[in-house]
Amino acid sequence: MAYNLLQGKKGIIFGALNDKSIAWKVAQRAHEEGAQFVLTNAPLAMRMGEINKLAEECGAQVIPADATSVEDLQNLFTQAQEILGGKIDFVLHSIGMSPNVRKGKTYGDLNYEWFLKTLDISALSFHKVMQVAEKQDAMNEWGSILALSYIAAQRSFPDYSDMAQAKAMLESIARSYGQRFGKLKKVRVNTISQSPTKTTAGTGVGGFDAFFDYADKMSPLGNASAEDCANYCITLFSDLTRLVTMQNLLHDGGFSSVGISEDIVTQMSK
Ligand code: NAI
Repeated sequence: MAYNLLQGKKGIIFGALNDKSIAWKVAQRAHEEGAQFVLTNAPLAMRMGEINKLAEECGAQVIPADATSVEDLQNLFTQAQEILGGKIDFVLHSIGMSPNVRKGKTYGDLNYEWFLKTLDISALSFHKVMQVAEKQDAMNEWGSILALSYIAAQRSFPDYSDMAQAKAMLESIARSYGQRFGKLKKVRVNTISQSPTKTTAGTGVGGFDAFFDYADKMSPLGNASAEDCANYCITLFSDLTRLVTMQNLLHDGGFSSVGISEDIVTQMSK
């Protein structure tokens, strides 16, 4: 159901790789809610061309940008404002990648070049996006900037490896830049800490199916789906959440507040 929550708003959505991506669902919901936006992803990720289907469905243009490249981001923000005919109201950073995870390195045998790449792609890019937006004065007042995080920023999950440090840094950047952007332009900056979700990035983490099921059994409401996450993102882009900023917002069906659940006890007693 649509509520016109984003009528007249202009945005940039990073990270729609395929129809499993959280960013894909956010784009579909943002379109339903009346937003206009551009879609962007790393040039390499566009080889499959899937993003063009989404662009057509949403009447959006696609601008390639590697989120680690300040030059690409400058071009993206300039072009997005030209295409959309004004400043930006919302930005979704839905980007994560660890070469160490992808190549199956254990936490005791990390490649440090790759570790830096993990941090650059998955965390520092969030700062780069905001610094470019600030320097171009690209954000409208009361705009909203959002990135996606995971509870491994606070608790250890062995297979999440160096992505845990990337998420801790991402959440820290949201706080620091949130303070700055709030003062400068009344722009809010938050992260959503999302349940395990069956996407390309999610299922790339070792043991994903086990911790997906574990989290589902621990959470009184069950795991939050990508569609649920998209709904939450829409509320944070809307004018209904204008004073929410510098927060890491848990969107996890209750997982983070549970010690143990009956479902897990039953399973362990078998
Ligand atoms: P996904 O694989 O569909 O999306 C990840 C995106 O990052 C892809 O579109 C990829 O092309 C993009 N990307 C990678 N390197 C890039 C670069 N250099 N420049 C620009 N884009 C780049 O997976 P998903 O799950 O939708 O991931 C979105 C976000 O949600 C990520 O931050 C992820 O860590 C986060 N998240 C995912 C969870 C899950 O279980 N799937 C749980 C909690 C958070």
